[in-house]
Amino acid sequence: MSPFLITRTLPEDATEAALRSDVLHGLTRTPKTLPPKWFYDALGSELFEEITALPEYYPTRAEREILAARAPEIAAATGARTLVELGSGSSEKTRHLLDALPDLHTYVPVDVSASALTQAGRALAAERPALDVHALIADFTGGLTLPDTPGPRLVAFLGGTIGNLLPAERAAFLASVRSLLSPGDHLLLGTDLVKDESVLVAAYDDAAGVTAAFNKNVLSVVNRELGADFDPDAFDHVARWNAGEEWIEMRLRARSAQTVKIPALDLAVEFAAGEELRTEVSAKFREERVRAELAAAGLGLSHWWTDTGGRFALSLGTAR
Ligand SMILES: C[S@@+](CC[C@H](N)C(=O)[O-])C[C@H]1O[C@@H](n2cnc3c(N)ncnc32)[C@H](O)[C@@H]1O
Repeated sequence: MSPFLITRTLPEDATEAALRSDVLHGLTRTPKTLPPKWFYDALGSELFEEITALPEYYPTRAEREILAARAPEIAAATGARTLVELGSGSSEKTRHLLDALPDLHTYVPVDVSASALTQAGRALAAERPALDVHALIADFTGGLTLPDTPGPRLVAFLGGTIGNLLPAERAAFLASVRSLLSPGDHLLLGTDLVKDESVLVAAYDDAAGVTAAFNKNVLSVVNRELGADFDPDAFDHVARWNAGEEWIEMRLRARSAQTVKIPALDLAVEFAAGEELRTEVSAKFREERVRAELAAAGLGLSHWWTDTGGRFALSLGTAR
């Protein structure tokens, strides 16, 4: 078995402090919001894996198709010795890259979900004796410090997760990724593409209700961590296409007027009947936007690959 290291870059109480701050600010503003990173406790990570296998949720299959087809080209273009993966989750699709990169020395999966990281990291280290696996429990929006590993470096950010950041957050995030790279290093970025509204909405509102359970799980996280008394059944799951912003919004709509107590914050939050709490945006992209946002961060778009259905894209950005 190869070395498997797992490092928490933030102390436990920093995570709790961040949750308290996000809940306090998000639930006392209008409209109410919560950031999507809090979906991913152990149950949330499992529910996300279930989502990736749903008939309506095409992004995972489309991205896997591109990775399987293009991994050799990615390997040739990057010559990566270190692969850093942000928001790595189960690392399932990443296996295509790990198989294709002939000189890979170290894999650094980075995620807020300790359970997903531990499970995926242990399995990979056991399967691949020649590979160092150094997992980081960290917030990829929080200024990462990476372990000192051999270059060239390839940072992968898959799953369309970049769409969960708002435009200003995306610009700051891409600049911070660029700061992790040396000239000639690469970013491999997965982006879901603008398409028919009915296809997009179905992907976030599946018939089996798994996405609804995933969305409501954030309320259970706040209950468990901050002693709140949200009743998840008192909220409906909503997925809506925002055509102006070109993003899907996931929301939780209060079925009736209610007051939620959050003892850890000494806070009572009023919801009007029908009031919505936004829990996620998932931006959908066009090639020009990706090219412009990468360029603004100092990354040149050197490859743009889509699946055969043209639903999802993988971009390779080269650090200038
Ligand atoms: C949409 S899932 C994608 C998972 C996987 N990359 C895939 O393509 O299937 C997002 C992943 O990013 C992680 N995540 C979300 N926000 C994060 C943050 N701010 N910092 C680190 N990880 C985060 C979640 O725990 C989850 O594993």
